[in-house]
Amino acid sequence: MSHPPYEPRHEPVLLHETLAALDVRPGGSYIDATLGLGGHAEAILEAAQPDGRLLGIDRDPAAIEVAGDRLARFGEDAVLVEGNYEQIADIAEDQGFSGVDGVLFDLGVSSMQLDAPGRGFSFQRDEPLDMRMGPDARLSAADIVNTYDEAELADLIWKYGEERRSRAIARSIVARRPIDTTGALVNAIEQAVGRGRERQIHPATLTFQALRIAVNGELSSLEDALEGARGLLAGVGSRLVVISFHSLEDRIVKRYMIKESSTCVCPPRTPVCICGKTSRLRLSSKRAVQASEGEIARNPRARSARLRVAESVVERRAA
Ligand SMILES: C[S@@+](CC[C@H](N)C(=O)[O-])C[C@H]1O[C@@H](n2cnc3c(N)ncnc32)[C@H](O)[C@@H]1O
Repeated sequence: MSHPPYEPRHEPVLLHETLAALDVRPGGSYIDATLGLGGHAEAILEAAQPDGRLLGIDRDPAAIEVAGDRLARFGEDAVLVEGNYEQIADIAEDQGFSGVDGVLFDLGVSSMQLDAPGRGFSFQRDEPLDMRMGPDARLSAADIVNTYDEAELADLIWKYGEERRSRAIARSIVARRPIDTTGALVNAIEQAVGRGRERQIHPATLTFQALRIAVNGELSSLEDALEGARGLLAGVGSRLVVISFHSLEDRIVKRYMIKESSTCVCPPRTPVCICGKTSRLRLSSKRAVQASEGEIARNPRARSARLRVAESVVERRAA
């Protein structure tokens, strides 16, 4: 049986909240560090007309292609680059976007990556176990499950999946190697933890999440990327907006924003400040913005989205 042609669809989460958080204005310049299918980027460009510009970055060449078609009508106002947001500072500098009014990160995986056949992200379909978001990722998920030792696998599944049966799952994976397909991995997980009727989520959910995070180094470069993005903000009031989908990411974002918005970090009894730290961001609110019930009903993926926003308090740097 042949598959129907795949039509990429991705409903941008928290769209109105994102535009408000970025405070998009006509003529402004923005960076979307996780372009995906270009849903947020399109809305930002529309709100920034006339004369607004956007640099879109994604490590996935398929995303650049789909978003390129979608944003073609903006001509040279939409500049799209295949790359890793780890290099956001260099990419922006190269493209003439080194002082911008806002930077957006909509983290994680896109629905195109989850749904398109052959990418190996989904436990719903049996296919090669890959999970690389882009060609810059070094190891596939199959490389990891087939070469890490049992203790390393258990640690990875625990750390990035917060899966309490991580040891049993790692043992089952090692006993069934080689594992080259998503189906074989699901089977190894189910052999360890059962088919999961008592669980609210599919038994493979957390292990697949953990592998995806490890394959793509999703947490390791986030803080550096946020710092790179902050350094690109044009001046007081320019915005850094981050949408995350699980607690591990959100914790990094929250800690980074709090750290950058705090002043002196000397120990409490130090009589005079010796650290000299000043704040570089101001938190727009302490709480993360979450999706409305209406949005969650339309798009269940929005349930776990958390949007955080901070604005620069650093004077515009000299050109
Ligand atoms: C949730 S999707 C973004 C969806 C997008 N906001 C939209 O409206 O279509 C996340 C995207 O970020 C990309 N991505 C994830 N990590 C990245 C990284 N380190 N560098 C560049 N892009 C990354 C993924 O390839 C994916 O396309």
